[in-house]
Order: sequence, then C-alpha cells, then structure tokens
Amino acid sequence: MPARNRKTSPRKPLHCNIAVPALSTKRFYGHGLPGVDLNRLTGKLIAVEGADGSGRSTQIARLVQWLEGNGHATIQVGLKRSTLVSEELEKAQEGNILSRITLSLFYATDFADQLENIILPALKAGFVVLADRYIYTLMARDMVRGMDEGWLKNLYGIALVPDAVFYLNVAPEQLVQRTFAKNFALDYWESGMDLGLSRDMFDSFLRYQALVEEQFKRLQSTYRFEIIDGRRSVDEINSELRRKIESVMAGKA
Ligand SMILES: Nc1ncnc2c1ncn2[C@@H]1O[C@H](COP(=O)(O)OP(=O)(O)O)[C@@H](O)[C@H]1O
Ligand SMILES: [Mg+2]
Repeated sequence: MPARNRKTSPRKPLHCNIAVPALSTKRFYGHGLPGVDLNRLTGKLIAVEGADGSGRSTQIARLVQWLEGNGHATIQVGLKRSTLVSEELEKAQEGNILSRITLSLFYATDFADQLENIILPALKAGFVVLADRYIYTLMARDMVRGMDEGWLKNLYGIALVPDAVFYLNVAPEQLVQRTFAKNFALDYWESGMDLGLSRDMFDSFLRYQALVEEQFKRLQSTYRFEIIDGRRSVDEINSELRRKIESVMAGKA
C-alpha cells in the first residue's frame, strides 16, 4: 500500500529559479541580413563597449558567471574573433599593409561572419549573447581616421540592434595605467600610432583615446548606449550592470 500511495500521490512541482527571458522585438539598424525571421530571435543581445583597459573583459566574465548561475545559456562574441577572417586580419594589421577602407571592410567582414554564424543562431536558440565591443567601436575608430559617417552607418546597417549597449567610460590616463599594469605595453593600434599623432606612444595613446571618445559621444546621439561610470570598483560597476540586465531580461528595458 505505501508503495502504491507513493505512485499515485501528486508530485511536488519542481522548483527552479530559471526566469525565461521576456520576448522583445528585434530589428536591424538598416537593411540587415536577408532571410532572417526577427520574431524567432528569443535570446538577448547585450553589448559592452569601451576603450582598451576600460574593464570589458572583467565585467563580461562576471556577467557570464551570474547569468549561467541563473540558468541562462550565454555565448560571447568580439572583434577579430570570426573563424572566417580573424587570422588574416591579424596578419594584415601586423604588416600595416591595407588601406583604411580595406581594413574597415575587413573588420566589417569579421563582424558579419559572427553575426550570421554565431549571434543570430544563438539568439534563435534563446541564448544571452555578450558582445565584447560591437559596431560602435569600429565606427568610432574609422571616424577618427576621417571616414564618412553616413557610409559607415550604411555599412553597419547589417547589424542587429542590441537589447542593451553599455559604454564603460574611463579617463584616458586611467586607461594607460590599467593597460600598462596588465600588459606592460601599449598596443600600436589602440594607441593610434598609424595616425602619426605623436612619436611617443603614451602621448599618442592619450590623444587617440580622447579622439575616439569624442566620436563615441557623437554616435551616442544616434545609437543611445548607456554610459556607465567605469572608474568605480569592479563590484560597483557589476551591480549596476546586473540591475540593468535584469530589466532587459524581464522585458522592461
Ligand atoms: N573597475 C576597475 N578598477 C580597477 N581596475 C580594473 C577595473 N576593471 C578592470 N580593471 C583592471 O584593468 C585591466 C584591464 O581590464 P580588462 O577587463 O582586461 O579591460 P578590457 O577588456 O576593457 O581591455 C585589468 O588588469 C583589470 O584587472
Ligand atoms: Mg578585454
């Protein structure tokens, strides 16, 4: 009898904390990619922007732990990470051989490959996609190099509008300190050395980052990313990001 009772007694409902992300309408900035059913993209796309050393990797690593701990599958994308052209792009940059437009199109190809083969399929499968930089860095860098804003906006019309974009704002002087403490060197391209702003790499880094920041501010009026004060502690920044992402997941943002 007790055995039969066990079989027939109603089971306790499984208790779980997994919040199913609320559906949000997705759209492309412009012409987008053909053949994509936007209504089927049930995941969330969160982009974290900011200069070298602004703390993007640090914050994304924590967000991944937090999101996965709460039952959300995540995937990460970033610049120069496509399987299609990332190695070739790296090589081309080492040799400094491409014209500005060709280099720009190389980066756009790297982005398009990840969009088509990682971002869109992952969103279709309900993943939270964390983008370590998105089209805005690419546009800002190109705008500093004198490329036409309208042309760039059109080029990146293929991009999907993220559910949230956070820009980690840190003063250039602090960026130098952090980057140097981490890598013991500054990066040639992140210092804008190709622009001939200064022979001194530190000086060039400061000038270049200020120019990029200026372009980010211009783009902000069109793309409306949230500016996060990146000078605070890692924990403080992360709490703010979590709060904001929680609203995104609940479809309130
Ligand atoms: N809020 C912060 N305050 C102080 N140092 C930080 C903070 N966030 C990150 N860092 C440190 O700054 C360096 C660069 O951070 P990282 O996350 O690699 O930046 P990014 O990916 O944007 O280049 C690392 O050594 C990291 O530990
Ligand atoms: Mg990083």
